[in-house]
Amino acid sequence: MRILALVGSPRKGSNTDTLVEETLKGSKVGGHKYEKIYLYEYEISPCIDCRKCKKGDCVCVISDGMQEIYPKMDRADLLIFGTPNYWYGPTAKMKLLIDRMRPYVANEKLKGKKAVVITPAAEGPSACGALIEMFHMSFDYLKIEFRGKILAEAYERGEIKDDHAVLKNAYDLGTSF
Ligand SMILES: Cc1cc2nc3c(=O)[nH]c(=O)nc-3n(C[C@H](O)[C@H](O)[C@H](O)COP(=O)(O)O)c2cc1C
Repeated sequence: MRILALVGSPRKGSNTDTLVEETLKGSKVGGHKYEKIYLYEYEISPCIDCRKCKKGDCVCVISDGMQEIYPKMDRADLLIFGTPNYWYGPTAKMKLLIDRMRPYVANEKLKGKKAVVITPAAEGPSACGALIEMFHMSFDYLKIEFRGKILAEAYERGEIKDDHAVLKNAYDLGTSF
């Protein structure tokens, strides 16, 4: 299986990235191939509702970093959406990516793929209900199978590295792929 991990935190090597990395480490047990990308390294413009992705080839015509990310998503069998909780939702960068997933409504290229969500939050898992619901409903809409989530409590940069229980949960999730 091919895995694409999308890291939507601006802090490389911090809580989201660490949990994503641990999940990827676990996935090695099953011999899966993976790629991890940092969304903050890509220019991603907002969806402008031009609806061009609903016609013809059903592709997005905005020329930016998403044109590099789309083929990676197309090739993946499983997507990891890693984002910190920012105001009870994903980071703005992750939301930009989600909005730009609109071509997949018409072209159905994500249909049958699997996805997981990984989210640290200062307030912990209880603050992540709306965020998880948003991903869940979006996955349902795109006919993506929700394969699990890792929610954790963390605030300071890299603090999650001391939470061995949640790191193990992330690793175990990876081994289950
Ligand atoms: C703009 C902003 C908004 C945030 N909003 C929330 C929030 O609503 N609830 C919460 O629990 N944590 C919130 N946090 C804290 C982050 O979720 C937390 O620090 C997380 O561990 C950061 O992950 P990272 O280290 O991968 O960047 C917020 C942080 C920032 C910078």
